[in-house]
Amino acid sequence: GRVGVLYGGHSAEREISLKSGAAVEASLIAQGVDCIGIDIGKNSIADLQAAQLDRAFIALHGTGGEDGRIQAVLEYLSIPFTGSDVQSSAIGMDKLRTKQLWQAMDVSTPAFRILSSQTDWSLVLNELGGVVMVKPVHEGSSIGMSKVDNAQALQKAYELAANYDGVVIAEKLIVGAEYTVAILGGEALPPIKLETGHSFYDFDAKYVSGDTQYLCPCGLSTEKEAQLQEQALEAFRSIGCRGWGRVDVMTDEAGKFYMLEVNTVPGMTNHSLVPMAAKAHGLSFDALTLAILDESFS
Ligand code: DAL
Ligand code: MG
Repeated sequence: GRVGVLYGGHSAEREISLKSGAAVEASLIAQGVDCIGIDIGKNSIADLQAAQLDRAFIALHGTGGEDGRIQAVLEYLSIPFTGSDVQSSAIGMDKLRTKQLWQAMDVSTPAFRILSSQTDWSLVLNELGGVVMVKPVHEGSSIGMSKVDNAQALQKAYELAANYDGVVIAEKLIVGAEYTVAILGGEALPPIKLETGHSFYDFDAKYVSGDTQYLCPCGLSTEKEAQLQEQALEAFRSIGCRGWGRVDVMTDEAGKFYMLEVNTVPGMTNHSLVPMAAKAHGLSFDALTLAILDESFS
């Protein structure tokens, strides 16, 4: 049947999605899949219906495409789609709801506070150990995020993040290493360790500067690596996510893992992290796109 690769959209991550979509579309076409690319920024629901899709490969990141909205449209049109369902996509796009759910289910995640213009900045800093990550809760790709260690900077960081989102959190900085774990089907792929020269793995480190190191194998002992995969898979499942995705994780100096967030439509450019993990698992980019498609649900 005919596959629509949905990309673009209106979110702050539109440019990344154009790249993910182009890579996925080219891969599926090269493998003889009857496939059309659809820019969701330019097309209406009527166009989506007129395209007569048998299934959809969602390559949209951020608001509108990763948060349950397009998933709801596809469900309504009875078009099976890749990745997580409406509810888990909506939760996964919201870092606050994700963390609240994880806390309730005993999945380890860094301590946090919700910020507002009324916040006592010094108190929050003290409660969270002196250094925090400020995050708009519905953005991806580190957009609007800052790392701060004093009250004045915290207020500024809040104001910046509030430009992107009505809900902003400060999260305790976990001092240690950062990992990401790709999930495909019921399996966690080999973890990747991220080493950046930046103060954290920000937008520039992700897409621009090219000075981030990606280590896969990630350098953990076999036992710790298995523990990381198990915890990431549990974190993914606890939200009800399915198909594929990626869980971002920090570890502290004692080796305890903390789940940061889940990405229900991770980047799929040729140098993105899920393709890198798949390769370490013996799956080419083409094998990966087909495997994700095979995991689409109705
Ligand atoms: N939000 C970006 C696309 C990622 O997680 O890869
Ligand atoms: Mg994200």
